[in-house]
Formats: sequence, C-alpha cells, structure tokens
Amino acid sequence: MRPLRKIIFPAAGHGTRFLPATKASPKEMLTIVNKPLIQYAVEEAIDAGMDQVIMVTGRGKRAIEDHFDVSFELESVLRSNGKQQQFEQVSQISRMVEIIYVRQKMALGLGHAVRCAEHWIEDEPFGVSLADELIIHDIPAMQQLRDVHEQTGCSVIGLLEVPREHVSRYGIVAYKKESENLFRLTDMVEKPLPERAPSRYAIAGRYIFTPRLMELLREAMPGAGNEIQLTDSIARLAKEEPVYGIPLQGQRFDAGTPLGFLLANATLGLADPQFGPELRKHLEQLICR
Ligand code: G1P
Repeated sequence: MRPLRKIIFPAAGHGTRFLPATKASPKEMLTIVNKPLIQYAVEEAIDAGMDQVIMVTGRGKRAIEDHFDVSFELESVLRSNGKQQQFEQVSQISRMVEIIYVRQKMALGLGHAVRCAEHWIEDEPFGVSLADELIIHDIPAMQQLRDVHEQTGCSVIGLLEVPREHVSRYGIVAYKKESENLFRLTDMVEKPLPERAPSRYAIAGRYIFTPRLMELLREAMPGAGNEIQLTDSIARLAKEEPVYGIPLQGQRFDAGTPLGFLLANATLGLADPQFGPELRKHLEQLICR
C-alpha cells in the first residue's frame, strides 16, 4: 500500500447557504475566532501527516491562494513595526505546506470537483476534506480516519449521527456494524427524504479513498440535484471493495451555515484563552438581561 500523503480540498462551491456573505468572498475564508475555515482544515490534514495539498478552486476564490501565499508588504510592515508575534503568525502560514491549485471551471458537483484533481493523485490513496465542516478534537478527524485506513488498507469515511429531520441535508449511509466504532458501508444515498434514509448516519465531510475511487468518478453521471455526486461513486466503490465508516469523535460545526458558524464562534471563542473570559462576561450579560 502506498503511504497516504495527498489530500484534496474542494473549494469551488458557491456557498449559497451563506449569502450574502459569500457573494464575493469564498465561504472557506469565513473566520472562526481569528482563523479562516480553510486554515483549520489544512492544519488538521498536516497534523494527520498529509502534506501534499491539492486545492480545487474556482472563480472568486483568489483570497484562498493569497491566504497561503507570502504577503511581502504585510510581513515587512509587521517586522519594521516590531510586531514579531504577528509577523511569525502570518509568515508561518505560507511555509505550512505546498499547495497545488486546480480550477474547477464549472460547478458540476462535489464528485466533479474531486475528479478535477485526478492528474495529481496518480495511483495513490488520498484524502478529501470539506472545510465548512469544522471538527475539533485532540485527535484530528483526518487522523481518526487514517488510523482505520492504515489498519485495513481500505477507504474510510467520517460519519455523524443526525436527527431524522436533518437527513435530507447530507449523504446518508447504510451499514453493517463490525464493532461499536467500525461500520462496513453497504450503500449510501445523497440527500434522501427522511422516509427513504437508510439510517441516521451522515457523511461528515472527511474521506480517505483508495485510488479506485478516481476511476469510478471518471464514469460518474449526474445524480441528486443534477450534480455529479461524490456519494454515488462511493456507493459503487462499496460494491467492489470494503468501504468503512467511523463515527467521528469531537465537536462538529456545520460552519458553512450562519447558525453553525455562530455556534462555532461562540464555542471556540469561549474556549480561547485570549478572548474567552471577556466574551463570557458579555454573553452572560446579554443572556441575563
Ligand atoms: C456534501 C456531500 C454530502 C455530505 C456533506 C457534508 O454535501 O455531498 O454527502 O454529507 O457534504 O457536509 P454539501 O454540503 O456539499 O451539499
């Protein structure tokens, strides 16, 4: 088995669940406390030992490239003003990892976005991470998947249990339990009606795939919402070889929606040593009014 080093970040979507904020700014640049979502996701991948990043972007997403680039002017201003700590914070972002940028010219779906990175994957296993799903845990979500991938050599998907009334927002899996925390996935369906959902376990935006998935994506046809769905190709993969699902540990926020974003900011803000104590005071005053 080739070692797992590559990870794809699909970041070309329109962010329609967060308009008007995402009209001219990428949703991946939405900020939780003081850091954009995409940086949380890239740091999670690096912490899980994945250091070859392929970012699939589109029109209007230049801010992502700029964020991970060197910022000469800002860095020299910070340095000449003696702001060493901020200088370090900014300059280390551009040294964090090598990123390859690929453009998805038309928003034809998540499966299509992943396929746009095909050329860079070659014959290796690879991760896929959706940055608007923010998952916080001591063991990074991608590492939780990686542990199972290394034990089994198979594809692994992060899962999240959701209320039945929310199943139509996600890809939902059918599974057989191999143990308490390891499910063998037998099928999956993208955004089902509650009465059609095979379970309450949703795909949580973290995936590791064997290279076979890329071949299946090449043949993929449009599915739900007339988009090329990643979920449909994973369902095909699961008929050919074992695909595992693991319920992810950690706090998870759907930060690509206004409510999830607010909850993430409140939760991480309260936990932040710099801003937490002051924020707590303000929130308590607001709530006790
Ligand atoms: C995508 C996937 C879906 C998954 C979800 C997680 O949907 O297609 O299977 O459950 O991400 O956030 P999207 O949110 O892009 O509509």
